Amino acid sequence: MTQTQTTPPAAGPDFRSDNVGAAAPEIIAALARANADTATGYGGDTWSQALQTRFSEIFEAKVSVFAVATGTAANALSMAAITPSWGAAFCHERAHILTSEVNAAGFFSGGGLIVTVPGPHGKVDPAALDATIAAQGKGMMHRSQPASVNLVQATDLGAVYTVDEVRAVTEVAKRHGLKVHMDGARFANAVAHLGCSPADLTSRAGVDILSFGMTKNGGLLCDAIVVFDEAVARTIAWQIRRAGHVWSKGRFAAAQLLAYVEDDLWLRNARRSNALARRFDTGLRAIPGAGLWAPIEANEIFLRTDPRTMDALERAGIRFVRRSADMARFVCRFDGTEAEIDALLAALATGASHG
Ligand SMILES: Cc1ncc(COP(=O)(O)O)c(C=O)c1O
Repeated sequence: MTQTQTTPPAAGPDFRSDNVGAAAPEIIAALARANADTATGYGGDTWSQALQTRFSEIFEAKVSVFAVATGTAANALSMAAITPSWGAAFCHERAHILTSEVNAAGFFSGGGLIVTVPGPHGKVDPAALDATIAAQGKGMMHRSQPASVNLVQATDLGAVYTVDEVRAVTEVAKRHGLKVHMDGARFANAVAHLGCSPADLTSRAGVDILSFGMTKNGGLLCDAIVVFDEAVARTIAWQIRRAGHVWSKGRFAAAQLLAYVEDDLWLRNARRSNALARRFDTGLRAIPGAGLWAPIEANEIFLRTDPRTMDALERAGIRFVRRSADMARFVCRFDGTEAEIDALLAALATGASHG
């Protein structure tokens, strides 16, 4: 089994992923607090109950929250909840559910087809979505039936959909009778970037179900599905249970999620990693010839570069992911430092000029 090629794990600034970072101390402390006395299993505990209330406050409406183990599980089970086995799910051609999850969404839906849509900076283009859905053959006996749309926020190229951009996509989806899932692996970074309310970016913009994201932004071992659509909320629990994502000691999952949103920890962490990415962005402007695949709007940087520059960065001890011969990915972490950014910029300035 191979993974995307990453630079060797020698000591040095580490931009390989936000997954390489720590778990937030607040979350570790919350786990220790939950580790006392007995508690009902399978989500019947007080932490899991409190989660429903707390997330309903955050999203300014009654929502149903389900703690699952990973972002992949959140995506696959969300997509399966809004895509029947004969359905077609539409997503951007770089979307994580397509490129990196072994078609878990198709598997858990029992056979759902994934259909790709182009668009700049990893964003689904509404007009292209409209045309792609129309071409899928609604009502035709021989074609998978249009069912759902997946948006990634922030996108797989590090850009952020504005509220209006989300709405433009969901309007097309609704016009065709489709439900909408948002992969929010970096939802906190998007909310922090826009400074908007979580509700404006999701339910009020037409999103039916959200993978909330947590691990990359200071979580330990947990993610969450937030369901806005009541009909979906009524049935999704059985699919989640069948997939093995109802935690028997559910209090430890809920305690992580509660700590994550307590005192806006999720947004404070995201602001930190976003600020590091912005520092890089500012520094990059002074380096001649350096380019980006998409504007830096969250905590990821996709550098338009070449193998010689990547070699030079590696020689300088910078750790990152080589996505292709002309794309290098750097991810800023909530626990990253300005010194790491400055080291990257310095290595880039030297490497870029001397090859
Ligand atoms: C956009 C996006 N969605 C989903 C995931 C999946 O998250 P996990 O690694 O927790 O399964 C990732 C992880 O890299 C991601 O970048």
